[in-house]
Amino acid sequence: MALLIRNLSQIATPRGTTGVRGAAMRDLTVLESAVIVIRDGHFAHVGRESDIDPALRGAINEDFDARGATAIPGFVDSHTHLPFAGFRESEFNRRLRGETYEEIAASGGGIAATVRATRRATQDELTASVLARAQTMARHGTTTAEGKSGYGLDLECELKQLRAIRAASERSPVRLVATCLAAHEFPPESRGSEAPRQGYVATIVSEILPAVAEEKLAVFNDAFVERGVFTREQGETVLRAGKALGLIPRLHADEFSDCRGAALAVSVGAASADHLMHVSDAGIAALASSNTVANLLPATSFFLMCDHYAPARRFIDAGAIVSLSTDCNPGSSMTESMPMVIQLATLQMKMTVEESLTAATLNGASSLRLAHETGSIETGKRADLVLLDAPNYLHLVYHFGVNLVRDVLRDGRFVVGNSSSL
Ligand code: NIG
Ligand code: FE
Repeated sequence: MALLIRNLSQIATPRGTTGVRGAAMRDLTVLESAVIVIRDGHFAHVGRESDIDPALRGAINEDFDARGATAIPGFVDSHTHLPFAGFRESEFNRRLRGETYEEIAASGGGIAATVRATRRATQDELTASVLARAQTMARHGTTTAEGKSGYGLDLECELKQLRAIRAASERSPVRLVATCLAAHEFPPESRGSEAPRQGYVATIVSEILPAVAEEKLAVFNDAFVERGVFTREQGETVLRAGKALGLIPRLHADEFSDCRGAALAVSVGAASADHLMHVSDAGIAALASSNTVANLLPATSFFLMCDHYAPARRFIDAGAIVSLSTDCNPGSSMTESMPMVIQLATLQMKMTVEESLTAATLNGASSLRLAHETGSIETGKRADLVLLDAPNYLHLVYHFGVNLVRDVLRDGRFVVGNSSSL
């Protein structure tokens, strides 16, 4: 049993089973007059129809006419805050009138507002909202997404968020990978002086992370190291404690100020350092000489209306492995759309379309430790595939502001388009 996808105008994909850096990010395989054969959920043939192995040809029992679509790998969105309750559109409106994200947070809004709503929500409600967002993601071409907790900030509610991701993943069109972000903010009951703040760090280390590891609720452990939030030392404590329990570190680094987060991420062996809008030269150099992926989130700069974007060109030119993600969350980036992120990466951060496609697929997969399985259209990989209503991959940016995603397959099954429900 195998599926043949024919009548493609183009296949465009990065190559390999690890993240790629520097000029290699621009080196896509671009095939014309090629077909794709999928068997057992994996790519079995990518190339000319006449080159299909006879045994595989004999197994083809389904034929899909792509009607001139362009095939690219399913997007890998490696930084999202998916399980949240409530929206913050009124804060957004305050920001439109001139208040800053940090001012709103200081007045009791921001992350704290979502923490209140998420604590009140049931696990089933959170599961439903994760599922709804995953469906929106899939309609925009995402086939793998990371999701973080971090709006619970106590044992019970952090576990509730992670359990919601697990429950949603059984029905989600998108493959979900969970990250514990208990160190996202200090909970309201631990604000104020230093002692209660240290107390919350101790709770993360001695209660939350062990419970997460015990129930195998997350693969990764993240922290928000920032002026006014977790110090470098506290971030390091949390990440090292998680690592000892088998949770791989990631880090919200240098988002609003240079806290030497990039160097911290490298020193703890983090899978990614994320945001990096205010990274220093030393931080860029540290990431460039490491395997820690520089995960850039231009939709956050865009949505916060700040002129400052992460220095993508400098990262790539220095040789860092760069990925792109939505940062989907109700405060600073209310979008599930990777095509939107790619448009911002090119038009605002001056990445090339080729670099952006690599960043949004293979390099994101590498930061989720999944590059051996997904992130490119190559024989042997999981058949995670997007068919764009476009004659070539350049249209992904050139034809902006519309959704070109027509069909999406995950593990070889249509989750969007054809006879699927989305
Ligand atoms: O990644 N940096 C911190 N956390 C989120 C924002 C979360 C929120 O505003 O709810 C971010 O931008
Ligand atoms: Fe984030």
